[in-house]
Amino acid sequence: MHRDLAADPPARVDAKWIVASAVAVAMRSQEQQAALAWSHVLIGELEEADEYVLGVAMHNFSIPSVLKLWIDQVVLRGRTFKYSEAGPEGLLKGKKATIVVASGGIYEPKSPAAALNYVEPYLTAILSFIGVRCLRFIRAGGAAALATGTVDRSTFLEPFLGEVRTAASENDPTADELLRLGDEGPAQ
Ligand SMILES: Cc1cc2nc3c(=O)[nH]c(=O)nc-3n(C[C@H](O)[C@H](O)[C@H](O)COP(=O)(O)O)c2cc1C
Repeated sequence: MHRDLAADPPARVDAKWIVASAVAVAMRSQEQQAALAWSHVLIGELEEADEYVLGVAMHNFSIPSVLKLWIDQVVLRGRTFKYSEAGPEGLLKGKKATIVVASGGIYEPKSPAAALNYVEPYLTAILSFIGVRCLRFIRAGGAAALATGTVDRSTFLEPFLGEVRTAASENDPTADELLRLGDEGPAQ
């Protein structure tokens, strides 16, 4: 299953969605069901898959706005998280995610710009909130060198694809999808 958020952006969460999400499932009107249509489709995809691969570009130190639209649609009480006496509990259990982050600059831990990397802490927080706790980040940093012509595409990608090959050699099911991202470039 492949979803291109840039080609088909999810709807923005609006007042109708917020009201519908607060109504018990059995009590929702047809109009309220319709307001949650995007959520049901996108959450269905997350429930069906065992592993996720996200291609994410860094935009202004954070995630692209279209990925935020997707997050707002999939974080739905009663479907991907619930509140129990112990506090919030994520419902997407036993899932794994690999996240390839492309950025113009370099944000490796302890690098000068590391503190400006809001992509990883945010995605770690929100994905674990909905239960996805097994996360692996591949940082394709320094893409600005491609724009300036300092490096060619295959040289730039080589170290990142090395991580993918390692995953492939471990017979990791995400490897095929990661290699596809390597061919096409990460989606937003
Ligand atoms: C609107 C916009 C904002 C960006 N903000 C940042 C940023 O804050 N830090 C950074 O290192 N690169 C930034 N970049 C560069 C992208 O992260 C980089 O070009 C990346 O390779 C884009 O991935 P893509 O080729 O899949 O679009 C930005 C690019 C765009 C278009």
